[in-house]
Amino acid sequence: MKSTALAHPNLALVKYWGKRDDALILPHQSSLSMTLSPLSVRTTVAFGVGSADEVELNGYVAKGSERDRVLRVLDAVRAEAKDAKLGPARMVSRGDFPAAAGLASSAAGFAALAVAARAAAGLPADPRAASILSRLGSGSACRSVQGGFCEWMRGERPDGTDSYAVQRFDEKHWPELRMVVAIVNRDEKEVKSRDGMKNAVETSPYYSAWVKDAEAEVVRARELIARKDLQALGELCERNAWRMHATSLAADPPLCYLLPKTLELIHSLREQRKKGVPVWFTLDAGPNPCILTDAANEVAAEAVARACGAIEVVRCVPGGDAKLQTEHL
Ligand code: PMV
Repeated sequence: MKSTALAHPNLALVKYWGKRDDALILPHQSSLSMTLSPLSVRTTVAFGVGSADEVELNGYVAKGSERDRVLRVLDAVRAEAKDAKLGPARMVSRGDFPAAAGLASSAAGFAALAVAARAAAGLPADPRAASILSRLGSGSACRSVQGGFCEWMRGERPDGTDSYAVQRFDEKHWPELRMVVAIVNRDEKEVKSRDGMKNAVETSPYYSAWVKDAEAEVVRARELIARKDLQALGELCERNAWRMHATSLAADPPLCYLLPKTLELIHSLREQRKKGVPVWFTLDAGPNPCILTDAANEVAAEAVARACGAIEVVRCVPGGDAKLQTEHL
């Protein structure tokens, strides 16, 4: 009745930005990501304890929408395991990186939660079911159930049963690839991604163009990863990030996640490329750029980030699947 799982965050190379169904978290477009090691989140779930559900995230009792999102996942597990009298759950989750640093900690947390909760309920290990389950907590989490490079297929069905992530390449496919996460600002972002994307969907005149190209963009990225073409993948990543941010810059009210230091780093990477250093950025809904490069250039990438004022830098490699652990929290 008690299980623990560890999952890594993931970073989208082709982004998800906009829901067609807010309740089920169904996206308008497919997306493709890289799972990031060594960053990880561990989550323990025990059913049949206490008198009500308890949710603890990084040492704090979760409240409001954070708690509600966890309960949605636990309720879905209780519904699926209908024979078992599971009862109230106690869930404890801890990340080894700052939650508010823009490092997609919620993706790793919900993937670990889905894998742990299914195991604790006696449900069979099933990456597709775990991906669908984690999606109910945070959309991008569905891409953290498996390692390497995962594609979240938007799906067509209104019930979301065909909207989940599949692994296209495992973490051994391209071990030299690096993602250097540059933290230029640690503040909690003012506009959460779920609000930012809703604003873009509802008010941005660029949104339809963004969606129109998304499926082809995923196919292009998949082909570039298959042939390990770093330059072309880097160019695609930058373009995709700019286009996602462009939808929000053109929304009403306009929304800009970039800070001066973000732009400074983006420009420095361009200068480095002129000198032949292979470094490209991607940027989620926050100010902290992530630099796509290879093992031979990760030290140079970190130096550029620090020179532009990064207060913390984490060099990541392609990470593995979410896994069950023997030690509990
Ligand atoms: O899953 P959410 O609600 O954290 O949204 C993620 C949105 C982006 O990180 C900006 C893009 C992505 O595909 O991960």
